[in-house]
Amino acid sequence: MTPLEDNFADILGKALRGRGLSAASAAESAGLTEAAMDCLLGGEFDEPAARSLAAVLQLNGDALVRLACGGYRPQVECPLAMVQATTDYGTMTVNAYLLWDEENRDAAIFDTGADAAPLLQAVASLDLNVVALFLTHSHADHIHALAVLKRELGVEAWSSALEPVRGTKTFRPGDLFNTGRHFIRTRLTPGHTPGGTTYVIEGPLLQAAIVGDAIFAGSIGKVRDDYQGALVNIRREILGLSDQTLLCPGHGPLTTVGQEKAHNPFFA
Ligand SMILES: [Fe+2]
Repeated sequence: MTPLEDNFADILGKALRGRGLSAASAAESAGLTEAAMDCLLGGEFDEPAARSLAAVLQLNGDALVRLACGGYRPQVECPLAMVQATTDYGTMTVNAYLLWDEENRDAAIFDTGADAAPLLQAVASLDLNVVALFLTHSHADHIHALAVLKRELGVEAWSSALEPVRGTKTFRPGDLFNTGRHFIRTRLTPGHTPGGTTYVIEGPLLQAAIVGDAIFAGSIGKVRDDYQGALVNIRREILGLSDQTLLCPGHGPLTTVGQEKAHNPFFA
């Protein structure tokens, strides 16, 4: 299974930066020595220290400890009419998604990943008709194969008017699309980027959300500004969906709303 995108130290680091705290001031509030703080942020797990710091950072200590000890692995199967295409981008991996209607073969692509090949192979072998390509945000790893996919598939690409990507048409948050029998609603989920978009998909066999880097299984994407606002927004726009909604993040494994509400240290 795809490993989680972030370990406990990544999570602590994101919360620390998000709350605008220095390591020294957070250590003092948590009653930790600077050395203990360095060890923790460097990836050396110590449960009591992690719990103290989690409390200062308003993370769920139980969820953080569970994740640190390997106790959180979201149990999710990729649905039948979906492909999660994971490609390498430098030292990391990035996800793109292909979703189709079994009845008429109309398909949509969400983000491009670093390499068009797995998506193009899937489209050809499944004999799909791709009608639209949607971007969650403008970061290079998510749009790297845009030109190739547009050229090879002759498909229209879309991005948010709040974060337009060259070579795409733009939509306003809240706009609705459809692909085959799937309805695709756009929701603004900023924080990682100003126009970050979540695509909420409802179809005959599927309720899913393509969330980009807003939320990962067990973590969140790096928030550039308004950390508190981003958390509130994710809770409302993504975790407000029904528990069984499949979440498809830009990095790491698939998950569900219910599992993130129970296990993600930022929200549990
Ligand atoms: Fe990103």
